[in-house]
Amino acid sequence: MIIITGASRGIGKFLMEKFRNEGETVYGTYQNTEPQPALKPFMKKLDISDHVAVKDWVNELTDKLDHVILLNCAGINYNAFGHKADPDKWAEVIRINLIGTFNMINGLLPVMREQKWGRIINLSSVVGLKGIPGTSAYSASKTGMYGLTKSIAVENATMGITINNLRLGYFDIGMISDVPEKFQQAIKDMIPTGEFGNPDNIWNAVNFLIKSDYVNGSNLDMNAGLV
Ligand SMILES: NC(=O)c1ccc[n+]([C@@H]2O[C@H](COP(=O)([O-])OP(=O)(O)OC[C@H]3O[C@@H](n4cnc5c(N)ncnc54)[C@H](OP(=O)(O)O)[C@@H]3O)[C@@H](O)[C@H]2O)c1
Repeated sequence: MIIITGASRGIGKFLMEKFRNEGETVYGTYQNTEPQPALKPFMKKLDISDHVAVKDWVNELTDKLDHVILLNCAGINYNAFGHKADPDKWAEVIRINLIGTFNMINGLLPVMREQKWGRIINLSSVVGLKGIPGTSAYSASKTGMYGLTKSIAVENATMGITINNLRLGYFDIGMISDVPEKFQQAIKDMIPTGEFGNPDNIWNAVNFLIKSDYVNGSNLDMNAGLV
C-alpha cells in the first residue's frame, strides 16, 4: 500500500491518481485543499509537522499497513533574501519540509521494520545544489533531507527498507504555477532544454526506486542537466 503526503495538489495528487488508476491502495494527506468527495475516504487532513497527529494516523491505519511505500511530497516554499527573512516563516519551512518528512518516516519505520520491507521516497530539490537567491529556507530544508536519508538508509539497510531522494529540477506541475510568468521565463532560460520537466519523469523514477532494492541512500538528480 502507498502513503502520499501532500496528495491534494501538484505532484502528490498526480502520483495518487497514477497509482489509483493502476488499482493500488493509496492513502493521501492534505492540509488546506479539500479533496473531491470521492477521494475523502482515502484522504486524511494532517499537519505532518505534528508528530503526535502523525503517530495517531499511523495507528488508525494499522490494519491497512502492508508493504508500505511512503512518498513524502508535502512541502511549502518561502521566498526571501536571508537578511530580510521573517525567522518564523523561515522556521516553518524547516518544520514542514524537513521535520514533517522525518515525522512520517519516524511514524512508519517501525511497521516497515516489523514487516522487513519498505520504500521511502522524499521529494527534494535542485535548489539546494545550485544556490538560488531568496531560497535559503527551502534550500536548507531540502538539503537536510540528504543527511536524513543517508542515516536512515544505513540504519535500515538489512531490513528490506530503502530510502532515497528525488532531487527535482523545475517541473510543469505544482508550485511552479505560483511563480510569476516573468520569473518562470527566467527559470526556463537557466534550464539547458529551456523547458520545465514533464511529471511523467517523476512517475517513472518513483517506480524505478520502488523496484530497485539495491538503490539506497541515493539522490537521483532530475533537472535536464541544470546542475
Ligand atoms: N513542482 C516542482 O517543480 C518541484 C521541484 C522541486 C521539488 N518539488 C517538491 O515536490 C513536492 C511537491 O511539490 P508540488 O509542486 O506538488 O507542491 P504544491 O503543489 O505546492 O503542493 C504541496 C502539497 O503539500 C501539502 N502541504 C503543505 N503543508 C502541509 C502540512 N503542514 N502538512 C501536510 N501537507 C502539507 C499541500 O496540502 P494543501 O494544499 O492541502 O495545504 C499540498 O498538497 C514538494 O516537497 C516540493 O518541494 C517540487
